[in-house]
Amino acid sequence: MGADLLVVNIGQLATPLGHSAARGAAMADIAAWEDAAVLVRDGAVEYAGPASGLAGLDASEIPLLDAGGRAVVPGFVDSHTHFLFAGFREDEFAWRAGGLPYMEIHARGGGIRKSMEATRAAPLDLLLALGEKRLWTMLSMGITTVEGKSGYGLDKETELRQLEAMGILAGRLPVGIVPTYLGPHSTPPEFEGRGSAYLDYVIAEVLPAVAAQGIAKFCDIFCEKGVFGIEDSRRYLLAARELGFGLKLHADEIQRTGGAALAAELGAASADHLLKADPADLRRLAEAGVVATCLPLTAFTLREPYADARGMVESGCAVAIATDLNPGSCYSQSIPLAFALAVLYMGLSAQEALTALTLNGAAALGLADSLGSLEPGKAGDLVVLDAPSIGFLAYNAGMNQVVATVKGGEVVYRA
Ligand code: NIG
Ligand code: FE
Repeated sequence: MGADLLVVNIGQLATPLGHSAARGAAMADIAAWEDAAVLVRDGAVEYAGPASGLAGLDASEIPLLDAGGRAVVPGFVDSHTHFLFAGFREDEFAWRAGGLPYMEIHARGGGIRKSMEATRAAPLDLLLALGEKRLWTMLSMGITTVEGKSGYGLDKETELRQLEAMGILAGRLPVGIVPTYLGPHSTPPEFEGRGSAYLDYVIAEVLPAVAAQGIAKFCDIFCEKGVFGIEDSRRYLLAARELGFGLKLHADEIQRTGGAALAAELGAASADHLLKADPADLRRLAEAGVVATCLPLTAFTLREPYADARGMVESGCAVAIATDLNPGSCYSQSIPLAFALAVLYMGLSAQEALTALTLNGAAALGLADSLGSLEPGKAGDLVVLDAPSIGFLAYNAGMNQVVATVKGGEVVYRA
């Protein structure tokens, strides 16, 4: 995309600045200008700052967006989702609400396996239709770039179909999609009780096919007690790294399994969940420059204690916030609720939470050099909020305040 756009009459323009993740105390360093403007040319930001900086510009040929005195922020980057799945698990949700633990449902062959059955049975067209609907919902909440994981096929054919669908959707919709291969999400029935043998198959058969087709940027694994342990996770991730993939881990979510330490050891792009990570883990992530991705909606719906986002910032980590949209542990894509939880229950300020949802989300996807903040040369991806300042993002809790979403200088959604 490469549109021109001049956004004027911005009551507050708030953005992190920089071309890499903001770590620790730097997460609070937000540039905020009143009476501001943004000029996008050919899809990229040419100017973002006080309106006075554009005095003398001949704007007669440039499409105009009047923000009406409202706040403008960078487009949100949802750096962890499983948005492409078929079927639902509302029955399991009711069981969990009644007290049955998530991992117990998983162990009984429900959970991810149930979504696997529905996704294996779903033809490409159905996946595309389901994905398209969810992506438009994301755009309506200001998400301009989203990561999507496979992991509901667990066999070569379906995993490749999920990744192929993401590529097709990226061409059809005005949203950036970063695909991640998550074959080791669970052990499929063909390999019942033989998780290591399944990984042998993944490493020998599936990873090379994903690499050859060039349809995923990252590889991820559900590193968790009762799913895939540390040794298996290490050997899978090393094989992925060898093929040129960036690395991600579902780490220390239900139990402290050592996933964060492994992410640090391997220099992963991000370690995600981290509900059970301890202070030493957080120091390891900070030292290794691994983005610590918090998924507040998952802790909320699993009714688990939230990840220690405050401790992460104080340990010097780069913290990202994402939705984890999936049919099991978190069937929600509510950016407004995630933002409010991050501020109210995880100890982030509105400034830190904004950085977590923009620049640091981009960094978790290896894209901080090209998006995640509004400054010259970066993508013209932005959101107009129905609020005078970013203070309202958590304050007007759980409410969608997006009135317009702009992708590459094009207004792609209006409330
Ligand atoms: O991030 N933890 C593993 N994967 C997902 C849940 C997937 C599912 O339950 O379908 C998560 O929470
Ligand atoms: Fe997840």
